[in-house]
Amino acid sequence: MADMEMQDEYGAERQRHKDVKQSFPSSLVESGSSSNVVKEYPPPYAGMGKEMVLHYSNTPAFNRARKVLLMIFWGSWIVLIGAVVVLTVAHPRCKLKPNIEWWQKASVYQVYPRSFKDSDGDGVGDINGIREKLDYLRELSIDAIWLSPFYESPMRDFGYDVINYTSVDPLFGNMSDLDSLIDEMHKEVDGRDLKLIIDFIPNHTSNESIWFQQSVDRVEPYTEYYIWEDCGNATHLQDPNNWQSALGTPAWTYHSTRQQCYFHQYQDSMPDLNYRNNLVKEEIDAVLRFWLDKNVDGIRIDAISKLYEDYNLRDEPAGDESADPNDYYGGYLNHTYTKNLPEIMDMINRWRGILDEYSTNTDSGPARPRVMVAEASGSPTQLKMYYGRTKDGGANFPFNFGLTRINESCDGLCIAGLVDTWMDAKPEEAPANWVLGNHDKSRITSRVGEEKLDALTMLLLTLPGVSTTYYGDEIGMLNINISDRPSQDPVGWSDKSLSRDPERSPMQWYDNSSSCYGFTSDCQAAWLPPHPDAEETNVQVERDDPLSHLSVYKNLSRLRREETFSYGDWTTLKVSANLYSYLRSFNGLTSYLVVVNMGDTALVDEDFSEAVSKTSATVAAITGKSSYIPGAKADLMKVSLQPGDGVVFSWPYIAQ
Ligand code: NOJ
Repeated sequence: MADMEMQDEYGAERQRHKDVKQSFPSSLVESGSSSNVVKEYPPPYAGMGKEMVLHYSNTPAFNRARKVLLMIFWGSWIVLIGAVVVLTVAHPRCKLKPNIEWWQKASVYQVYPRSFKDSDGDGVGDINGIREKLDYLRELSIDAIWLSPFYESPMRDFGYDVINYTSVDPLFGNMSDLDSLIDEMHKEVDGRDLKLIIDFIPNHTSNESIWFQQSVDRVEPYTEYYIWEDCGNATHLQDPNNWQSALGTPAWTYHSTRQQCYFHQYQDSMPDLNYRNNLVKEEIDAVLRFWLDKNVDGIRIDAISKLYEDYNLRDEPAGDESADPNDYYGGYLNHTYTKNLPEIMDMINRWRGILDEYSTNTDSGPARPRVMVAEASGSPTQLKMYYGRTKDGGANFPFNFGLTRINESCDGLCIAGLVDTWMDAKPEEAPANWVLGNHDKSRITSRVGEEKLDALTMLLLTLPGVSTTYYGDEIGMLNINISDRPSQDPVGWSDKSLSRDPERSPMQWYDNSSSCYGFTSDCQAAWLPPHPDAEETNVQVERDDPLSHLSVYKNLSRLRREETFSYGDWTTLKVSANLYSYLRSFNGLTSYLVVVNMGDTALVDEDFSEAVSKTSATVAAITGKSSYIPGAKADLMKVSLQPGDGVVFSWPYIAQ
């Protein structure tokens, strides 16, 4: 029965074999059979049988064709493999576009809140004032604001002397003003938000903070929150060692209540916290979490180099005996035991761990990577420590203050030296960063003169990595003269030459002196006077002038958003007293040649054609006075620039 079913199933197939057998050649017919029976093949074979295939494929023509086809097949493989090997060896590997975080290419803008914009007419800038000016900051194409301290403070160091780390000083507004500022900044406009980096001041508090008051009274757990040492008594004081504060005074101050001396790296109103006390570490962790919970995008850690001092209180070694003993920075003492101690990295790594926890958290939406910037002092080689030893440790970068040393005599060679020093010292994979000025340094325009400001702006915004702009530098604000008035900065009370008032004058917004140039409604109340040149140097006037410092800044800042500037290679080309030049390029992207003249003589007909293998290019950006025309074609065999001028040339990527 089963056989029957099989037959039925294959019956039709058998019939087909029988139909074709009539036409088979005789060689396929079984010999020895009287009836010329064609050999049948068992199912499931269908169509041409094996012998038939062999029969046809053994014909001479087929053999020849097969040989030729095989030769073509293997020959092509050999040629293909050879070509791949030759191309791989002969051409450098295409670099992949790196995956970089926002802060690695950020354009940061420092807002000193006292001086930026006063919204309530008390003469001091505030948080709502900053919020009013967010459109302006967006116009500058910046990525992040670094906001100098706004915490409750007796203002003996304008906020760097903190009473309460998780508060807003009423002078600047309140917590809900700050929340609104953060919300507004995080709203995307044209696909971009603004990030907020806050000042984080872990080294010291104000002596008016409750922690210090309790410590003075030996109230637990605050007794050891600060660094206390025996130092004789009120009539017979004996400092524990020769340590000096940044003001050049002894770093120990006797407190008659506790009858001990406390240590302070800065003013005596700013006692140092004791980081050998775990409770202090936990307090500061909580402060950090408080602000990260508020969604700030990063911290700038103040005075990090001074977080720890030698446990054994050893005397600082003597330095240059001929230097002024009262000048902390003069070299009289080497600050070996009070600066850049390796233990600092334990705290940095601890805080980095907290930041990373928030950076990767996606509980309430996409992760927001946070950044840690260290305000450290020391040589570029000493500062290398702050990057940490592993990818997940250390600060993201320490500020590079090299360019804040530029003055009018710093020519192309000098600038190249400062840039190279930083590039050589930093770890290769870490982003570079550039700072021209801040609230502690004389303004860049006052240091180099108006003529050279634009060229420096060009460098700031086209060198690789992060740029930091101090408020007002984009319009060329100058230091104010305070010789006929007392210093507002308490640091300048006993020695006016130390005052930082000159670089902290009100932002110059409008061409209107009665409103203090748009800073405040009552100019009489302004905490510092505006600069007398505010009539011409202000945002309103410069906005309408295509050659103004502001226009140069804005053009370069927009250009900076091109990917080549975000992560492209950087190669120094020609350098001399009146020439500093480099190339920014990357596979597949537009290339840019940046040339500035920081010297005192004209650069005439400089030939870049060999350096960049091109004879002409398009002008992508210029400094205000430059004779080049943006968008025009330019001859790279004859580049000419007057002192203080700069130009960026560009050309599209052409695959070789
Ligand atoms: C560095 C700040 O930039 C400066 O303004 C301040 O006085 C000291 N740290 C102390 O906090």
